[in-house]
Amino acid sequence: MTVHVLDVADLGQDGLTEVLRLAALPAEAFTGQLAGRGVALVFEKPSSRTRNSSELAVATMGGHPVSIRDDEVGIDRRETAEDVARTLASYHAVVCARVRHHETLERMATAIDGSGLAVPVVNLLSDRAHPCQALADLVTLDQCLGAETFGDRVVAYVGDANNVWRSLAVAAALVGLPTRVASPAGYGPSDEDIAAIAALGGVLEVTDDPAVAVRGADAVYTDVWTSMGQEDEAEARRQAFAGYSVDARLVSLASPDAVVLHCLPAHRGEEISAEVVDGPRSVVWRQAANRMTSMRGLLSWLVRPEGTRGPDGTVGS
Ligand code: CP
Ligand code: NVA
Repeated sequence: MTVHVLDVADLGQDGLTEVLRLAALPAEAFTGQLAGRGVALVFEKPSSRTRNSSELAVATMGGHPVSIRDDEVGIDRRETAEDVARTLASYHAVVCARVRHHETLERMATAIDGSGLAVPVVNLLSDRAHPCQALADLVTLDQCLGAETFGDRVVAYVGDANNVWRSLAVAAALVGLPTRVASPAGYGPSDEDIAAIAALGGVLEVTDDPAVAVRGADAVYTDVWTSMGQEDEAEARRQAFAGYSVDARLVSLASPDAVVLHCLPAHRGEEISAEVVDGPRSVVWRQAANRMTSMRGLLSWLVRPEGTRGPDGTVGS
């Protein structure tokens, strides 16, 4: 059955472990894995990191990325999400999309399955999840903290319990990395989120106090207060999130070796201070660079035929 990656949990624990292993391999290990094949990259919303890291990941694997803007395909305006998905799956090895509504991805995956094509759908960010970001986050946390120590570590997320938080929390749960989240009333995790993370065996502490979340943490993570598509709520959100800025005072409560992550784009002076995002504890550029290596790992895992994997991750004959 085709695995569609609409959130990290779709990979399962073994799949996630394998993708992370592949993400650590040099580019040469992937040479030719997408030779003569295409990968569709549909964007209903703007992107810098996701588009560029995905295009380069495909190109370094010998494939041909086709980036497609919202106004070109017009999902559910020019034609239905189902028709867009079936069309793209006729040409491409993988169909990736950044969408306004998570349900669009579900409809695309169902349409492709229904057409009998074995083409996976990958979520490049939806209002619910951002799994490709979470893969890069885990790679970065492994590089900075060491995955073998994850069980004794804690990642504190301060801000909106949004798409980025949700995928990070799910990914952390799958690798046994405890997390905390601090959000103002009305912007924290839903009961459904908390239950889903618990069902994966995740250790999650929920608070409305950033200091409680960050105290002694090994990594501090934040994201924008207003996500793409929420622009009408920006002023209300600025007020609600006052006091939730990741600044030097807050970071001083974390472990002395703590690292600071942000998926970017960042708004200096809002969710993070310039001093912190541009400071010595920030690993945001390493995190951004890891978007490409983790995308290569994911694409390789999705397209490679079972049974042809060499121990070093190269394709067998
Ligand atoms: N972090 C991230 O997804 O960045 P873009 O929105 O620029 O792709
Ligand atoms: N939460 C942000 C992430 C951007 C990469 C958004 O959805 O706009």
